[in-house]
Parts: sequence; C-alpha cells; structure tokens
Amino acid sequence: MPPNPTNCPPSVSKAAVTQAAVALKAGDLVAFPTETVYGLGADATQAQAVAKIFSAKGRPLFNPLIVHVADLASALKIGAFTPAAEKLAQAFWPGGLTLVVGLRHGANISDLVTAGLATLAIRVPSHPVAQALLRAADTPIAAPSANRSGHVSATTAAHVAADFGPHVTHILDGGPTQCGLESTILDVSQPTPILLRPGAITTLEIAAVTGRALPRHHHVISTPSADLTTAPEQPAPTAPGQRAPTAPGQLESHYAPRAPLRCNAHTPMPGEALLAFGPDVPAHTGPTINLSLQGDLVEAANGLFAALRALDATGCSAIAVMPIPNTGLGEAINDRLNRAAAPRPNTN
Ligand code: TXA
Ligand code: MG
Repeated sequence: MPPNPTNCPPSVSKAAVTQAAVALKAGDLVAFPTETVYGLGADATQAQAVAKIFSAKGRPLFNPLIVHVADLASALKIGAFTPAAEKLAQAFWPGGLTLVVGLRHGANISDLVTAGLATLAIRVPSHPVAQALLRAADTPIAAPSANRSGHVSATTAAHVAADFGPHVTHILDGGPTQCGLESTILDVSQPTPILLRPGAITTLEIAAVTGRALPRHHHVISTPSADLTTAPEQPAPTAPGQRAPTAPGQLESHYAPRAPLRCNAHTPMPGEALLAFGPDVPAHTGPTINLSLQGDLVEAANGLFAALRALDATGCSAIAVMPIPNTGLGEAINDRLNRAAAPRPNTN
C-alpha cells in the first residue's frame, strides 16, 4: 500500500491532515469522514483522549467503540482473527464492515474503547481522508459516529459542527460521505459469525463470502412510535418483536431526530413531514423529501440521515416514513428507522 495516499478531496490539504494527526496524538478529538458516516476520533491507546469522546457525545461508558486502522496488518496486531475472520477482512477491507474479534493480549488499547470486554471491534475504512489520517497519526483511532449519543449520525461536516459546536474544533471536511449508513458489524469472535448491526455491506454480500446465511443477533425492539396509537401502520419489517440478549450499545432507541417517527406510513397526517420513497407518493402539503424517486436503495441509504435532520428542522409534529423494502441496503435502512422510532429513554 502507498505510505501516504494523495487522493484526498481538494477540501482536505496534506497540511490539514498532518495538523489533525498531531492534534490526535496530543490527545485531542478529530472528526473525519469515512465512506460510511463521519467519525469522532481519538487515539485509541490514550485513555484520557478516549474519555473525551464519551463526554463530548454524552455516550454511556458501557458502549464500546470501533477502532479504525489503516490495513489488515495493523488490525492483526491488536485483534485475534480466526481464519474465517481473516477471510472476511480480506474480502471487504478497506470498506464498510466492522469485525468484532478477540482483543489481542498486549494490544495497548484503552479499556474505555472495549468497555472492558474481551473483544474488540475493528474496521479498515476506505475513505482517502480516513486513510491519510490513520497513516499520518500511525496509531489506532477509536471513533464512534460523530453525533450526539442517540441522535442521527453525521454524513457531512456541517452535521458534525451542528451537533458539537465549539466542543469539537478539528473537523476534516471531506464532503458528504459516500454510503451514508454506518458499517455492518459482524461478531466473528466465535466460530459462527453473528450479525450485530446491518449496515453498508449487505448480508447477501457477506453470505456470498462465508457460504451460508447469517444468523442475526436480535436487539430489543418493542413498539413503534408510542404516542401515535391511532395510526394503523405497522413497525418496519426488521423489528423482530422478540427479546434476546442485547449486545453492548445495540441500543433500542438510536439514530433519533427530535420529532417522533411513524414507520410504514401510507397516509401522512396534517402537521407531519413526509419521508417518501419511490414514485408513488401520497398527496401531502407538508414538508416532503423523497429518498429516491426511482426506488433505489443505495440512493436512499445515502440521503437518509441528512433527510431526517432536514425534516426535523422544519418543526414538524412527526415524520411519516413510507414503507421501504427490506432487501439489500433496505435491511440497514429499516434497522435505523425502527430504532429512530423506538421509545426514547433519554429525550434529547
Ligand atoms: O460506520 C461506522 O461504523 C462508523 C464510522 C465512524 O466508522 N462508526 C460507528 O460507531 O457507527 P458507533 O460507535 O456509532 O457504533 C459502533 C457500535 C456500537 O453499537 C457498539 O456498541 C458496537 O459497535 N461495538 C463496539 N465494540 C463492540 C464489541 N466489542 N462487541 C460488540 N459490539 C461492539
Ligand atoms: Mg453511532
């Protein structure tokens, strides 16, 4: 691999990357683009730096972080990969797949990153700015999505600034992210891979590599939008409606705008904003954003979080979301929508 890829967008100079790397090594937070969403990064080896992530985000300390590294060789130094895990890494890295593997003895990763678990979530991002930062800093970077805890993820530098204001001063602005949804998280620390979070890489793509269908770890999801009981609509298709052990941080309510969400809505109500999908949009006089007029799930994934933020900003009473097919990236889209619609323990 080239030691210093230069294909960063013009908005991010080499000097800006160097400066960000210096800040990171000094223990500061740096927000940076990845191909999925923006990350809020800290040097994963420095506990005090990692602690700043939790306080800036208002993130519970039991929720572990993903560590980003530049390549598989760096990942092998901190994680214990089974042959199956390494095969998946070879297939999808760099890219939108996070692998949960055993934490390697002597890895020098702060306990705050793993929340004291014996496993570690690792990802090699493909975004040129993320790659340039990782290589310049030459340290594993712990980075959750760059949004306040529980809020909608950031797909532009402006979203990051809107969520953190003066609390995050280093932001590398690489423009809107390419995928728009977070990475897929697979637990490969055990012999059978388990899907912890659907995301940028579809389960079909993964099954094509592993040769078998993926068991899904069902997080706890109860009812959709609690206070809209008059609505006849159903929860979006990924809501499993069953209780199972919850992985750390696979929180029921997440990705949530201020306004409540109403999934699988066919008829928007007065006062609601409409998040539409496809060509057959019901008549509506309120604010409307169509995720994809053509019904393209890749385009829909790309615009989802920006659309939620924009509709939220209209001051609508709720966001009615049209049904979105649960295939391909639709699985990850519905996962995010279901969590955004879930009852919220901590209003923000
Ligand atoms: O695309 C992404 O994955 C973005 C970009 C910045 O890389 N990052 C991201 O991080 O979405 P975050 O913190 O928002 O989500 C990471 C998820 C959390 O739900 C956390 O609980 C889970 O990964 N996680 C981290 N370490 C884990 C572990 N050892 N076992 C199980 N889940 C883990
Ligand atoms: Mg997040």
